[in-house]
Amino acid sequence: MGNCYPKPVNNLSSTNNSSAVFRSDVKKKEPMIVKHPSTAAEGGSDSGSAANASGETVPPSGRIVTPNLKMFTFYELKSATRNFRPDTMLGEGGFGRVFKGWVDGETYAPSKVGIGIAVAVKKSNPDSAQGLKEWQAEVKFLGKFSHPNLVRLIGYCWEDKEFLLVYEYMQKGSLENHLFKKGAEPIPWNTRIKIAIGAAQGLAFLHTTEKTVIYRDFKSSNILLDGEFNAKLSDFGLAKLGPANGESHVSTGVVGTYGYAAPEYIATGHLYVKSDVYGFGVVLLEIITGLRVLDTNRPSSQHNLVDWARPSLPDRRKLRKIIDPRLEQDYPSKGANKASELILSCLEPDPKNRPSMEEVVVILEEISAIKTKPKEANVKTPRSTGPHSDRRYQSANQSPFHARNGRGVRADNRSPIRSY
Ligand SMILES: Nc1ncnc2c1ncn2[C@@H]1O[C@H](COP(=O)(O)OP(=O)(O)OP(=O)(O)O)[C@@H](O)[C@H]1O
Ligand SMILES: [Mg+2]
Repeated sequence: MGNCYPKPVNNLSSTNNSSAVFRSDVKKKEPMIVKHPSTAAEGGSDSGSAANASGETVPPSGRIVTPNLKMFTFYELKSATRNFRPDTMLGEGGFGRVFKGWVDGETYAPSKVGIGIAVAVKKSNPDSAQGLKEWQAEVKFLGKFSHPNLVRLIGYCWEDKEFLLVYEYMQKGSLENHLFKKGAEPIPWNTRIKIAIGAAQGLAFLHTTEKTVIYRDFKSSNILLDGEFNAKLSDFGLAKLGPANGESHVSTGVVGTYGYAAPEYIATGHLYVKSDVYGFGVVLLEIITGLRVLDTNRPSSQHNLVDWARPSLPDRRKLRKIIDPRLEQDYPSKGANKASELILSCLEPDPKNRPSMEEVVVILEEISAIKTKPKEANVKTPRSTGPHSDRRYQSANQSPFHARNGRGVRADNRSPIRSY
């Protein structure tokens, strides 16, 4: 049995390398200085309460806490996941694989399936040179925040070349799976808006916390859902402290994910708090259309959802054609119009013209209060007549996009943008 040493965790320091490196599968992160997690809450308004997994009540407003993360041994996590058995695997991302395990609710000692609490164990890919850096950023940021819309980090393990993170288990997995996975049950409009509100509240918390944090990797695969479809943000591997001393932005190497990264950030390496708002606009567009931001399986003019959908957003008639047909028209037109206005404002090219995430939350709450009128659910969508219509893809209630798009096709929108 090996030990998981309390290896240090600390601040991300950015490189000022403006040349973006585009990669397709391997995650690359920035270098960082190393420090112990117990000191990672520097500058935080420490309430003295720990972000532990003992089920303590989390206030809705969220807070900065002294990290009190459990240090697991590799053996314990191996045991909790039954030797990382393939059938316990929940998914796989750039960092590595994620497994479902079971631990005692009090001591976190490994337990048998169904006994104690379920946890998600993220195990770094041993070939990834970036595993350590991502692991450190996750412990640094997530370890010190406690908020209902941020996934709870329970503990970690670092042993030789193995870096692991232990999170609360999110029963319904990622939003990405619900929106795009083949055979997934369609999510109703109200639930979609509820998810958007939760994710927006998570971002708003990060942006307004004492030291502004820019999340930098906002996307549907990083929004996890609990049993009641409450959304929580995961993956703080790219999170970065926001501008200080009255600055509007931080200059940094370009990292993130194609499709979601804000244009000003990709072009200049200038990262604004509002760069996250752009990513939010992209995800909201995915939520209402049920389409991935990038999908090379669509006709080339439609590869990029933002470019394709933007002209339809201000036009109510065109908007109806791009809304997810799996909603079967069961949504309030007024709410959809308001959502499309919100998306457009989040996607404004100039970050200054985008709303704050707090403003986004307010608008989403207004949208959620708009109910579907009974007759709206029966309205048929007119056939597409827009510039992108193509008879091959037409069917009732379907835009060319939807008809063409194979559900569950993993698109290249996950290709991270990395630079060093
Ligand atoms: N806490 C959790 N509870 C339940 N499932 C989880 C949890 N964390 C991750 N998963 C599952 O594991 C999958 C992979 O997650 P991971 O964050 O490693 O990669 P990703 O988000 O798909 O890609 P990326 O590496 O670009 O962030 C998720 O899509 C989700 O289905
Ligand atoms: Mg992720």
